[in-house]
Amino acid sequence: MDYLEIVGGNTLSGDVTISGAKNAALPIIAATILSDQEVTLTNLPNVVDIRTLLKLLTMLGGSVAHDKTVAKINNGTITSTKAVYEIVSQMRASILVLGPLLSRFGECEVSLPGGCAIGQRPIDLHLKALESMGATIEIKGGYVHAMAPDGLKGAKIIFDKITVGGTENIIMAAALAHGTTTIINAAKEPEVVQLCEMIRDAGIQIEGIGTNELTIEGSGGKTLKFQTVNIIPDRIEAGTYLCAGAITNSSITLHKVNHTHIQSSIDKLESMGCTFELHEDSITIFPVTHLKPVNLITMEYPGFPTDMQAQFMALAVMVEGESLIEERLFENRFMHVSELNRLGADIWLKGSTAAVKGVNELYGADVMATDLRASSALVLAALVAEGTTNVRRIYHLDRGYDNLEGKLSALGAKIKRKKESM
Ligand code: UD1
Repeated sequence: MDYLEIVGGNTLSGDVTISGAKNAALPIIAATILSDQEVTLTNLPNVVDIRTLLKLLTMLGGSVAHDKTVAKINNGTITSTKAVYEIVSQMRASILVLGPLLSRFGECEVSLPGGCAIGQRPIDLHLKALESMGATIEIKGGYVHAMAPDGLKGAKIIFDKITVGGTENIIMAAALAHGTTTIINAAKEPEVVQLCEMIRDAGIQIEGIGTNELTIEGSGGKTLKFQTVNIIPDRIEAGTYLCAGAITNSSITLHKVNHTHIQSSIDKLESMGCTFELHEDSITIFPVTHLKPVNLITMEYPGFPTDMQAQFMALAVMVEGESLIEERLFENRFMHVSELNRLGADIWLKGSTAAVKGVNELYGADVMATDLRASSALVLAALVAEGTTNVRRIYHLDRGYDNLEGKLSALGAKIKRKKESM
């Protein structure tokens, strides 16, 4: 197993190019199931989760030609509609094939994803919405068996809670359904917007893109012909590099970013005293000598993203005074707290709120990555910890950060990927 050895204390400087967004690419890859013709995707991030979902498509019988950032996918050859446990258990987002498989083939079996480090993460809202569209759903042997032999029917769906994956699954299901689907309380994350645009550009009428209410006119079972999709920049990767600049008191320029998508992170960093220069698709963060504490609550877009909570906590650890961080989206997304405390942080947890008392110094130690974003928080803390930090179980990082150690090394960090000697 690989781990990262990081020697802290270096100031960073220079440029980093942000990769395509994993969370935009995943539903877009799933959406290619709605077509029986070749679809080209560009600006894919070179990360494990993308390879996992592409592998699932090939297991279903689709043909995939993938080279780092570009994939040509042809799902005209699909022969199976079963998404097996071996893949779904590796990556929860595989559940995104449920909506498109069901709407195109009238039946499918998808393994239940099971629990996850950051909370229960049920899929009840996905299933309830598909049932409203006429699907019969049965859970047996750890699999969701979904049937709609005469196709799905448009329906009015009201999500009890805003769900990104649930909204994406229903958008894809609705694209081939018979009639009109309205989704109320829909997610409006930029990744959901790009999925809507891809489907709209294939000729499906979608109203309300970028709002909490979407209306989709289904094709009545006719498959779609997609244009090439260029994946949007990863707003979480960008936010993570801004935090790297802030925590190491460095000047870093990020290229290929969408400022609007990272506005909530910019706002929080500005409230802490950071300054920026914005250009068309780049942003420079400048060094600050004295950062102020931060108070934040995770929310749906355009609020502060839960996927940036751990990285801001790492930053707050190094800021004099007390910061308060409240997690509202996931019930167990504080696994990084005990690991940060191992490095010398002073974080106190009560329910869904973490009180972070700034410390002057962190000291390198062995720490364990627990989930994707928690892992990047440990890397950020390691960049400023005195001595050497070994971040273990970095397969979490490899799922979602494209060449993290290469990009940080190029900025001047002392970071090396090593193999456990066992
Ligand atoms: C997506 C992102 C993830 C991000 C999250 C919230 C992808 C691949 N992943 O995850 O990085 O942290 O959005 O922005 O895009 N819920 C239910 N029932 C359901 C579905 C969700 O109770 O059927 C709950 C979840 O447990 C969670 C909340 O709703 O508490 C939001 O989850 P959701 O938006 O669905 O997250 P994901 O789509 O899984």
